[in-house]
Amino acid sequence: MSGQAVHPLLPQAKPDEGARQDFVESLRRHLVGGMAPSHRAVYDRRALPAFRKARGHAPKTRHDARAAMLRDPLHQAWSSLMRTTQEMMWDAVDEAVMQDLPRLGKLTPRSMKNLTLRPALDKPRYAAALDVHCMPGSYAGEVADGDLRTGALYDRAVHIYMLGVLGPYNQKAGEIVINYIRRRFPDLKPKSILDVGCGVGHATLPYVEAFPDAKITGVDVAAPMLRYAHARASALGHDINFVQENAEALSFPDRSFDLVVSHILIHETSRTGLTNILRESYRVLKPGGVAIHVDGAGFAGKDLLEQYLADWDTYFNAEPFVGTLHDLDLKALTRKAGIPASAAIVETTADGYARHTGGSLKVVGGRKPR
Ligand SMILES: C[S@@+](CC[C@H](N)C(=O)[O-])C[C@H]1O[C@@H](n2cnc3c(N)ncnc32)[C@H](O)[C@@H]1O
Repeated sequence: MSGQAVHPLLPQAKPDEGARQDFVESLRRHLVGGMAPSHRAVYDRRALPAFRKARGHAPKTRHDARAAMLRDPLHQAWSSLMRTTQEMMWDAVDEAVMQDLPRLGKLTPRSMKNLTLRPALDKPRYAAALDVHCMPGSYAGEVADGDLRTGALYDRAVHIYMLGVLGPYNQKAGEIVINYIRRRFPDLKPKSILDVGCGVGHATLPYVEAFPDAKITGVDVAAPMLRYAHARASALGHDINFVQENAEALSFPDRSFDLVVSHILIHETSRTGLTNILRESYRVLKPGGVAIHVDGAGFAGKDLLEQYLADWDTYFNAEPFVGTLHDLDLKALTRKAGIPASAAIVETTADGYARHTGGSLKVVGGRKPR
């Protein structure tokens, strides 16, 4: 295993279940580390010449690069194994979660002071109509009353998927934003922080230690994720307020928060959804507040092969909006969202996030970073 911290809510695997999880992690490590370097040679030596011969010109777009690569047998094998490994990962973790659910259910805190669920909340189509990244039931699927299954599934599986890169508590995305704030907004001392699309609170928890005087709220559209987030935060001794909300239409009044953050949320929303999320994140900012959205970087600086590989999940991993995010023109979208031209709008791959995840920070707010 790649060093995930054990805490009371983490689903406990029996030895055979644990062995299957370890196998999936090793296979994934081989695919993304061991085999991936072959993409370049496959493209240059076989896929590109074959495409040229067939079409009479070199690939012009990432879609051409995809077409070229998908005709190559070695790349077909890699792509197929990547998809199969993804499905195996969910299966391996879900069998442990399902047998551990009775124990997990007993860990639900008695006090619901920090958890507000809204069963009648309308979910956007992208959050309800597909099993995102092949996750069975996606985030919001429920199999029983008081269900926290998808939260448990996500907590364990994302550590396998990311091969531990996000740290023992899958917390690194939050830490990177905090470091960015310390260096680029040294005067920002937030008293109220909102984490939109907080999931099980992986990235939310570091804000508690970094800003001990702040009131921290995590919102998510999926009730099982929030039930798990609430139980996990409570087991780890943290006081965070979790509320079921659609980030596209937040119920908070204007000017409620000093800092609004999201971590790996926006690649899972549609273009319209993303426009609405940017608008809402800005609307709820206090004057001088900052919104920072952390997710994949754009296609800029990537050649066609790299663009296709960055876009692979759109076609083979039920992540239909990955390409949309990479195509994003942040300034144009903020204008469309009605955010005034006077707002600071910055996209940066600096500060370690790119190194860890290949992504970027999108900063929209009432003050400019240093
Ligand atoms: C990839 S997970 C990221 C979770 C968390 N931020 C993290 O860093 O681990 C995306 C989360 O966003 C939530 N989500 C997607 N669309 C949403 C929306 N419109 N409003 C609120 N939450 C949303 C999903 O339910 C899911 O929990």
